[in-house]
Amino acid sequence: MGAFSDSLLILFLSLLSASNVFGSNICTSQGVTTCQHCLLVHPTCAWCSQEEYGRGGSGASRCDLKANLLKGGCTSDDLEFPSSTVNIQEDSPLSDKASGTADDVTQIRPQKIHMALRPGDSKHFTVSVKQVEDYPVDLYYLMDLSYSMMNDLARLRTLGNELAVTMGRTTSNLRMGFGAFVDKTISPYMYTHPAMALENPCYKDGQTCVAQFGFKHVLSLTEKVARFTEEVKKQQVSRNRDAPEGGFDSIMQAVVCKEKIGWRPDASHLLVFTTDAITHIALDGRIAGIVQPNDGLCHLDVDNVYNKSAVLDYPSLALMTDKMSENNINLVFAVTSQVVPLYKEYSKLIPGSTVGLLSDDSGNVIQLIEDAYAKIRSKVELELLGVPEELNLSFNATCQNGEVILGLKSCSGLKIGDTVSFNVEAQLRGCPKEKSRTFTIKPRGFKDSLEVTVDFACSCDCEAEAQANSPLCSNGNGTYECGVCQCHKGRLGPQCQCSVEDYSPSDDANCSPKPGSPICGGRGDCLCGQCSCHDNEFGQVWGKFCECDDFNCLRFKGALCSDHGKCGCGICQCDAGWKGDNCNCSTQIDTCMSSIGMLCSGRGYCQCGVCQCTQPGAYGDTCEKCPTCPDSCTLKTKCVECQHFKRGQYTEDSSCSTICKDEIKVVEELVVHESNAAAVNCSYKDEDDCVVHFQYYDDETGKSILFVVKEPECPQGPDILVVLLAVTGAILLLGLVGLLIWKLLVTIHDHREYAKFEEERSKAKWDTANNPLYKGATSTFTNVAYRGT
Ligand SMILES: *[C@@H]1O[C@H](CO)[C@@H](O)[C@H](O)[C@H]1NC(C)=O
Ligand SMILES: *[C@@H]1O[C@H](CO)[C@@H](O)[C@H](O)[C@H]1NC(C)=O
Ligand SMILES: *[C@@H]1O[C@H](CO)[C@@H](O)[C@H](O)[C@H]1NC(C)=O
Ligand SMILES: *[C@@H]1O[C@H](CO)[C@@H](O)[C@H](O)[C@H]1NC(C)=O
Ligand SMILES: *[C@@H]1O[C@H](CO)[C@@H](O)[C@H](O)[C@H]1NC(C)=O
Ligand SMILES: *[C@@H]1O[C@H](CO)[C@@H](O)[C@H](O)[C@H]1NC(C)=O
Repeated sequence: MGAFSDSLLILFLSLLSASNVFGSNICTSQGVTTCQHCLLVHPTCAWCSQEEYGRGGSGASRCDLKANLLKGGCTSDDLEFPSSTVNIQEDSPLSDKASGTADDVTQIRPQKIHMALRPGDSKHFTVSVKQVEDYPVDLYYLMDLSYSMMNDLARLRTLGNELAVTMGRTTSNLRMGFGAFVDKTISPYMYTHPAMALENPCYKDGQTCVAQFGFKHVLSLTEKVARFTEEVKKQQVSRNRDAPEGGFDSIMQAVVCKEKIGWRPDASHLLVFTTDAITHIALDGRIAGIVQPNDGLCHLDVDNVYNKSAVLDYPSLALMTDKMSENNINLVFAVTSQVVPLYKEYSKLIPGSTVGLLSDDSGNVIQLIEDAYAKIRSKVELELLGVPEELNLSFNATCQNGEVILGLKSCSGLKIGDTVSFNVEAQLRGCPKEKSRTFTIKPRGFKDSLEVTVDFACSCDCEAEAQANSPLCSNGNGTYECGVCQCHKGRLGPQCQCSVEDYSPSDDANCSPKPGSPICGGRGDCLCGQCSCHDNEFGQVWGKFCECDDFNCLRFKGALCSDHGKCGCGICQCDAGWKGDNCNCSTQIDTCMSSIGMLCSGRGYCQCGVCQCTQPGAYGDTCEKCPTCPDSCTLKTKCVECQHFKRGQYTEDSSCSTICKDEIKVVEELVVHESNAAAVNCSYKDEDDCVVHFQYYDDETGKSILFVVKEPECPQGPDILVVLLAVTGAILLLGLVGLLIWKLLVTIHDHREYAKFEEERSKAKWDTANNPLYKGATSTFTNVAYRGT
């Protein structure tokens, strides 16, 4: 597997390098003519605005990879290559806990980012969000005071304290406020007849209730819970005519009347909306002849009553969502069971809202609010404000346990104090009109936000220096911008040199070498009688008829000009050190030099840096191996004989001049040659028994030179008399020495014999009494057969 992927990699790399050899890439292949367009092609493309770049026939594209432009001679000052960057400008750490006021609490990190983006490019950054503990809470209770809510109101009067205590468990910093709504004060939503019904809409049933109102802000947000209970106690129900209520009007006012309601900027904003009925929505106003759409502005008068109730239509869900997001409001629908399904549908369309089931008398409203608050706080969802259309943002969320959820910009099921992070990739897909744009990423319902400023790197700096009516573009027939002419209308050509009116089809004749052959060789356009050649995917094309290119040259082993030269119009221009049609022949000879310093060991010649061995049996890189060859001295001997002495085998068969081509130089004695210390010394004995010394070496060009010592060393004839005398003398001397040795040996022997005799003699004197040779005169015999006397 490894080997397979390796070979794939090699294949890929070789394809890549092959495409470089041919000079074509995504930047050059698009026929781009302006700097701005070049930046759009691909984030890797750069533009060269140097005036002379690409002139003089090479036709190099100004839009290319940065490295290629620099290689092509573009100075880095003239290079337009904006790059994408991400720069975090404000990065305060996340807070742990809110302390009293929440002014200095940070729940998102970083807070400010500056980016620069090339079209097509993308950049990543990470956003962390943490819900701090004990964060301040603003709770505004918005109550339906239509007739059917009478028992709910009675119940709520008793609940104020309990609600404050319960919420106090999640935050030590709670404010509560109260507002009430019924419906628009206009027929057919309201009883307008008889006049009495205006004052007391309940009079028909023999009851009393207060006059109908649209929305009434009762109690601004306050820490004093007692005031909440107090104000609720004062409230009385009213009555409207049709079944749906005008609650959405009140939501809009509660959201946008920041000052009157008293929303703190640094707190969670909980808007609890209680009702038991369905609601009017945008365009319902038409029934009453109201056609002016809701403007999303605050219209509370001095009595804190919504006084445009009968003027403006109900707000649309989209407008409500917008305003809620702007003011970080979390909406809680606390509704009775028969309308839960309806409000669930609304909730789906209003991000950040939740729905809770309210019992008939609102008895469970505390539990409901607590649950809703917990639900809101358990979820972090990023919302994006003001993101330009051309910017594609994608998200990966890291919620709990470091688990990454792809493509999600929200996390749920969190506990207070959990930190979540989001990996954001911003990709610019096109170029917006403006140069830069700031947008906001913020967790829904939080005041904290991340501000991202994006600079769109869509234009080139050189555009600022554009010269209108430039003399460079045929005397003011175009605008010179970023190194190229943008021709005025009706002008054509790279320098705007011809006009459309002047153009006639007969000009095309100038664009082909002979009538009938294709215009500009089929590789270019005829513009005003001049060929404008197209570079193709293999490389550049130029020439009067686009007949030249830099890719149709001899190849050797697949490499253009053997990689040792440039292809220019069909002919390889070899680099220094190379020759041949395809530049595959090295002019160097050092590769042919053998270790003894001879070109091909004197057994061949050097061709294209490789030895061609001519001596039979010779082989090896420098012909250095040759078991059957006579040594080089022996070979040269015959030439020295014939060239210098005019004798020998080659002179006899007249082959000297054809075989021996070396230059002969006659010298007095052999020296060491500085240019080639490794000359070879040879000597041989000629037919006169004289010793001829000569030397040969190969000079830099590979030519052999023979240096022959002028006079051979001939032996002198030996002296006969001296020899005779010496021989005689030697024989005499040998005889004398022999005699002397003999005499010496004999003398030594005699001495030894005499000494022995003397010794024997002295021994004989001492033993006279007992001569071993003496025998006694008497003999005794015993007769064994004799017995008796
Ligand atoms: C509504 O109240 C505002 C503020 O008090 C006032 O300026 C405006 O004239 C009132 N509009 C109507 C129609 O009563
Ligand atoms: C934005 O990026 C996402 C993820 O990379 C991709 O799925 C989506 O198609 C892109 N949207 C557009 C309009 O290109
Ligand atoms: C999300 O993760 C996927 C897979 O790891 C990755 O390809 C993608 O680029 C990531 N997107 C972002 C916005 O980080
Ligand atoms: C455009 O070029 C032509 C020919 O080079 C020249 O005669 C003419 O004055 C130029 N037009 C302008 C507007 O300069
Ligand atoms: C150079 O190329 C020619 C033509 O392809 C070929 O015949 C010759 O052998 C090559 N020489 C070397 C040294 O490779
Ligand atoms: C050849 O002879 C010259 C002169 O005698 C001597 O200096 C030189 O070292 C010799 N070269 C070799 C390779 O023996």
